[in-house]
Amino acid sequence: MTCKPQLMSKFMSGLTIALGGGAGFVAINLYKGNEKFYNSFVMPILHATVDGESSHRLAINMAKYSFLPNFSSKTSEHKNLKSSLWTLEFNHPIGLAAGFDKDGEAVPGLAKLGFSFVEVGSVTPNPQSGNEKPRVFRLKEDEAIINRYGFNSSGHEAVRENLTKSLSNLKPTVVGINLGKNKTSTDSIGDYVKGLEVFGNSKFVDYFVINISSPNTPGLRDIQLKDTLDPFLDGILNAKAKLNITKPLLVKISPDLNDSERKDIAQMMIKPRLSGQKIDGLVVTNTTISRPPSLKSCHSSESGGLSGQPLKNLSTQMIRDMYCLTKGSIPIIGVGGVADGQDAYEKLRAGASLIQLYTALAYRGPSLVSTIVNDLSQLISDDGFSSIEEIIGIDAKQTTK
Ligand SMILES: Cc1cc2nc3c(=O)[nH]c(=O)nc-3n(C[C@H](O)[C@H](O)[C@H](O)COP(=O)(O)O)c2cc1C
Repeated sequence: MTCKPQLMSKFMSGLTIALGGGAGFVAINLYKGNEKFYNSFVMPILHATVDGESSHRLAINMAKYSFLPNFSSKTSEHKNLKSSLWTLEFNHPIGLAAGFDKDGEAVPGLAKLGFSFVEVGSVTPNPQSGNEKPRVFRLKEDEAIINRYGFNSSGHEAVRENLTKSLSNLKPTVVGINLGKNKTSTDSIGDYVKGLEVFGNSKFVDYFVINISSPNTPGLRDIQLKDTLDPFLDGILNAKAKLNITKPLLVKISPDLNDSERKDIAQMMIKPRLSGQKIDGLVVTNTTISRPPSLKSCHSSESGGLSGQPLKNLSTQMIRDMYCLTKGSIPIIGVGGVADGQDAYEKLRAGASLIQLYTALAYRGPSLVSTIVNDLSQLISDDGFSSIEEIIGIDAKQTTK
């Protein structure tokens, strides 16, 4: 399938007329995050005129310079969504997935959108530019994205400085750091340990994610295989013990693992280790390299990781599997295709304790988190529950009976 060239000039002139005709009206609606205005005006124009990577950069800059609407008070008022996990408090379970704020430039602005936690990264030890452009593709008809960024990162030191600069006055949300490895590095364990060394004692970081599931760094996903994973986890956890780091450490896994690989991973995650340390959680899942036959977009054969709607059920099934295989003993952050309250509800019921999203934000605009949080709170109380703790894994438990 090939894509027709976009009618850039037509849309640009439309945009110019619209902006010229009512700049004030536009600015007010942008700033207030008017849902209808974003969905029927801003997002379609943005998608027709600006490529995926440029609109990603634009969104980061808007968050960085605080030109985004503030939904944070609206999203923190639902008592039935509050939870504590590890030693952290969450106003509600919806967080921003890794890959959006790769360099930790915009956490306060993103917290304004209502996310109860923001995962920064993936961050590599040394700066690297990632793959050649174009490397981000919108699959509009499928409400999906394919990306092959390949860990473009400013590197540990720059990201540490960004976090210090932006969070010194006020840290408005829980912050995770997602660690990756440099493309040319031959010492995988060493790269992740460097991340623990740099961010381990940062007061701006609350939890760590070891990302071994990005499809865009050659060989990375092989670390998930049993014989490599076991010594790999020992290496990471020994270093964590030596560095005296007590913050939670999670592992992010791929949706493309087969049944026996899922079993192996579950076993590795709950296995007692000599260091006395353990893996504190799983992030389920990263993007998929599979291409469901249902995909309609002309970009569907681009290489890279697929995210968004086509990933949703694959990721929910994997959450259910990992919850059952670990007997609910290890918290799961569920991520993949969440775009509304019902999607989030299903992932919690499948076994996730927290939820993340990314792709839906690119399609549904800045009021998304607030809408999901409202709807989720309503769904939970409509079903007669008074807290999210009561629903975590209830569908998975029913499946195993
Ligand atoms: C453009 C893009 C870049 C991403 N970069 C990263 C990354 O650097 N590290 C990572 O762990 N996941 C990355 N992800 C994966 C997301 O964190 C998430 O696991 C995946 O997109 C599924 O969630 P979604 O369907 O809500 O987008 C990226 C996703 C997208 C769309």
